[in-house]
Amino acid sequence: MTASIIDGKVFSQKVRDEVARDVARLKKDHNITPGLAVILLGEDPASQVYVRNKAKQTAEAGMTSFEFKLPPETTQEELLAKVNALNVDPAVNGILVQLPLPNHIDEAAIIEAIAPAKDVDGFHVINTGLLATGGKGMVPCTPLGCIMMLKDTLGSLSGRRAIVVGRSNIVGKPMAQLLLAESCTVTIAHSRTQDLADEVRRADIVVAAVGRPEMIKGDWIKKGAVVIDVGINRIDAPERGEGKTRLVGDVDFEGASKNASAITPVPGGVGPMTIALLLANTVTATCYQNGIDPASLR
Ligand code: GUN
Repeated sequence: MTASIIDGKVFSQKVRDEVARDVARLKKDHNITPGLAVILLGEDPASQVYVRNKAKQTAEAGMTSFEFKLPPETTQEELLAKVNALNVDPAVNGILVQLPLPNHIDEAAIIEAIAPAKDVDGFHVINTGLLATGGKGMVPCTPLGCIMMLKDTLGSLSGRRAIVVGRSNIVGKPMAQLLLAESCTVTIAHSRTQDLADEVRRADIVVAAVGRPEMIKGDWIKKGAVVIDVGINRIDAPERGEGKTRLVGDVDFEGASKNASAITPVPGGVGPMTIALLLANTVTATCYQNGIDPASLR
């Protein structure tokens, strides 16, 4: 079997097109333009690229983008004051504080300061609690994108055995909750799981978010399984020339492609979905804040 490729570029464009349509309806029928505020503290180059892409795609979808680049020496109190100001700004429907934050900032305290209704990352404990209890909250973007890709590939996920390798608050834990909500039988594994190969071999759905390059081997993948690789790892690539690097996922792509029925590539798989779902979450948050059913826009 050679796996079909789940193309995140194509898929994310579809999501962004839907968001742009929803935004147009919000403007036309409700006179509302969703606003997304992004705070970037410091000068981490990867975060700068990410924030630039977010701002560009927010504007392309017809929403208002507010960008706040704060100097690296910004204090906890100053950052909290900024978040609090955005919490009460009616033009701002979504707030995202780019992570990671510098060591002198208490990341958890900042996340908890964001108004849960504007927490488009879905990281606030109110939103993680709502996800765990089947409530209507904001759902983290990357896992939401993974579920969309899985449902598009498989249809119903009900009853399928799923394994999530990785237990981060941003991906692993919310991913497991979403799979559970889709009636999967869910295993959460991680870097210390014993007999990880055997655990993975049982799974119809493998979501890899462990942050270790090509840790999940091709022969661990059950025939016909669907593989979603969230990992983005830069490794040395001497075969491309001295000092060259390349991006790989947490899964041995070539090996896994021989067994899986469908798989996401790295890059070009899950990666592009995150910003697309951030835009979708901003529309959802705007609707909830204004008592509008998001489904009524479609
Ligand atoms: N840094 C990398 N990805 C993300 C994300 O999805 N949200 C936030 N807030 N920071 C990030």
